[in-house]
Amino acid sequence: MESDPKRAEPVAGPREAADRAADAPADRPGARRGARLTVAVAGGTGTLGREVAGELRRHGHEVRVLSRRSAEYRVDLATGEGLADALAGCDVVVDAANNPSSAKGARLTLVEGTRHLLAAGAPAGVRHHVCVSLLGCERVPVGYNRVKEEQERLVTEGPLPWSIVRAAQFHELVGRMFTTAGRRRVLPVPGALLQPVAAAEVAAVVAEVAEGPEARGRVTVAGPEVVNARALARTWRSLTGRRALLLPVRVPGRAGRALRAGALTDERPDYRGSATFADWVMSQRDASAR
Ligand SMILES: NC(=O)c1ccc[n+]([C@@H]2O[C@H](COP(=O)([O-])OP(=O)(O)OC[C@H]3O[C@@H](n4cnc5c(N)ncnc54)[C@H](OP(=O)(O)O)[C@@H]3O)[C@@H](O)[C@H]2O)c1
Repeated sequence: MESDPKRAEPVAGPREAADRAADAPADRPGARRGARLTVAVAGGTGTLGREVAGELRRHGHEVRVLSRRSAEYRVDLATGEGLADALAGCDVVVDAANNPSSAKGARLTLVEGTRHLLAAGAPAGVRHHVCVSLLGCERVPVGYNRVKEEQERLVTEGPLPWSIVRAAQFHELVGRMFTTAGRRRVLPVPGALLQPVAAAEVAAVVAEVAEGPEARGRVTVAGPEVVNARALARTWRSLTGRRALLLPVRVPGRAGRALRAGALTDERPDYRGSATFADWVMSQRDASAR
């Protein structure tokens, strides 16, 4: 945890995280393995949320998937609609919702959403609120990151026992950005150091934390290597065979300096994923060829 200099052993993959959780002593995340929990996963249809839901189900827990379009528990975090019913009887809430499309959307889903989840969680009997956040968000002062900071503050000052899992950028996000930009045959890429990680490996950590006692601290998870975003773009281009011009973009000011200095990375995260971005791109390529 960022609040604790003692480091967890690196994670080599989701399976090993789960195995370690099974062996965990009583004061570590994973100590509640064995007890069947009812876990609400807000944003459980999203990139991370669906992996978290799957991981928790594989561990034998009852999982409720909450989102605006969920077939199971339709809720709107922005208004709180549907939350009282969805959270009734839940032990744990994992907040993996997101809405980065606009500043307003992010604020409504993440800040107002957290307010509504905490307000509905306390009377519903929720014992642990797990918030997913962004590694280094306070070090890169841009709109979305400020929203994440505010979301974290609400959680740490809120009425429920809490844990925060801070993750680096997902391979899925990086890949999606290159795919979208690549359709125009141009990849505008800032000079940023990143440490991307597979969403499945983050999900294994989030599930482990959700099964354990509240950390009242931040657990960090990042990928196996710190890489310049431009190197990631070249990797994506060569492994996908797409032809696109790499266009270096200079982000000005404090945010740009922080990105170039690696503010979104952590050389010693609590958990380190094992899949590199190249591994992930190849796994996607192989999956779509099948
Ligand atoms: N993406 C990354 O690289 C990355 C890196 C580090 C940390 N994180 C954090 O990880 C978390 C999950 O991110 P993600 O990329 O997995 O998200 P995502 O794929 O965009 O999924 C977002 C989820 O939130 C739900 N949602 C959005 N607005 C909602 C609302 N008003 N009410 C209820 N549900 C709502 C969506 O479902 P509906 O549309 O059906 O409502 C969906 O299930 C976020 O906290 C993010 O900050 C992400």
